[in-house]
Amino acid sequence: MANVTVIGAQWGDEGKGKLVDWLSNRADVVVRFQGGHNAGHTLVVGDQVYKLSLLPSGVVQGKLSVIGNGVVVDPWHLLAEIEKLGRQGVPIGPDLLVLADNACLILPLHRDLDQAREAAATQKIGTTGRGIGPAYEDKVGRRAIRVADLADRAALEAKIDRLMAHHGPLRRGLGLPDIDGAALLLELEAVAPKVLPFAKPAWLLLDELVKAGKRVLFEGAQGALLDVDHGTYPYVTSSNTVAGQAAAGSGLGPKGAGYVLGIVKAYTTRVGEGPFPTELDDAVGQHLGAVGKEVGTVTGRNRRCGWFDAVLVRQSVALNGISGIALTKLDVLDGLPTLKICTGYRSGEQHFSYLPAGLKAQGSLMPVYEEMEGWSQTTQGARSWRDLPANAIKYVRRIEELIGAPVALLGTSPQREDMILVRDPFQD
Ligand code: GDP
Ligand code: IMO
Ligand code: MG
Repeated sequence: MANVTVIGAQWGDEGKGKLVDWLSNRADVVVRFQGGHNAGHTLVVGDQVYKLSLLPSGVVQGKLSVIGNGVVVDPWHLLAEIEKLGRQGVPIGPDLLVLADNACLILPLHRDLDQAREAAATQKIGTTGRGIGPAYEDKVGRRAIRVADLADRAALEAKIDRLMAHHGPLRRGLGLPDIDGAALLLELEAVAPKVLPFAKPAWLLLDELVKAGKRVLFEGAQGALLDVDHGTYPYVTSSNTVAGQAAAGSGLGPKGAGYVLGIVKAYTTRVGEGPFPTELDDAVGQHLGAVGKEVGTVTGRNRRCGWFDAVLVRQSVALNGISGIALTKLDVLDGLPTLKICTGYRSGEQHFSYLPAGLKAQGSLMPVYEEMEGWSQTTQGARSWRDLPANAIKYVRRIEELIGAPVALLGTSPQREDMILVRDPFQD
């Protein structure tokens, strides 16, 4: 396959950043295609830790990186992240980073609205508070300011007026002060010369690269269960996170997705509110959280932890057209005497082999488990099958059977090189 699309197959934080970093030296360009700086991707290289939210993880390996049109971009955050990476020894200029000129912006008014709604809601979503939802609302509402508008004062003025007309009543209803349109215009005009050098027609660049035989690595953010259509709605993010979005969110047509690599954690976690059938509120849940260091990168919240849910991942395999998976964090299960895998759900008399769409149904699901024996040896840092205990191999094989997809890569520590390569997605 010429191209590889990396997506999260659960509720995010599966280890996409580590995989994209690792795969990026096999690619020519790395492309983000949805989400924004709600993502938090942690890369560990020796004693350096890189935390990326908006920049494609390929930048760390010095790969050409594209922020596609499907991403919502906070320009101030973008510049801050570029600066932070620069301080860590990763200089990022317009030769390395391309920002789609038709991507929509996240403005301070989006962050205000996101946070004020969460504060006022009785049924909170548990968003990252970074303005993602309101920015996508303005995008589909055809009011958003796009990157290219930063070069056009008249467009900015007209769009600010339009945004003020829409947001004014919403803000008043939430007790927020009115928007100062003149101040917003000044702020955008101040940021424009720093952002515009990165702005290009990204679809055109990708078209040229593909025609020249170059290899594209797409980097998804969030996970399939946070997809606005297919996830646990309304406890989702506001973009399509599934692999199909790689095409629309980059402008590179659906044939460009190539090998779809689903990133799957060897157990399950979720941040924020919403149903989670295999969630554990006991010592095992605490073990997963502590050993797996399950703390959100963006908000610092503890991630909720639970057993591996094969029903959800099987559904993800279908929704994304997954070719193979990278199973991460196997090492976190070291030392647990018994492991459970959810193979179906019960709700009253009903049995489900998939996640039903209704909120009420989702909230009432009781997991049906099968049990497997754990292993007492360490898998941490393993780089070959030979280093794995027999029971760990059995666990991996059982997951493959239940989800209907093969394991291409296995992660055994946060470090870049601690991985077992079973098959190379770029060669498959
Ligand atoms: P992403 O959002 O999908 O990129 O994932 P995050 O970076 O938010 O969360 C994954 C966390 O697990 C990060 O802290 C990684 O450094 C770490 N990680 C990734 N793969 C492994 C692995 O195989 N084993 C262990 N122990 N940690 C891992
Ligand atoms: P990565 O790319 C985990 C969750 C939030 C909240 C919901 C909506 O690191 O896997 P939003 O701010 O997007 O409107 O919040 O989505 N969420 C994530 N959870 N990993 C992420 O990204 C997430 N991005 C958003 O916690 O429940
Ligand atoms: Mg993350």
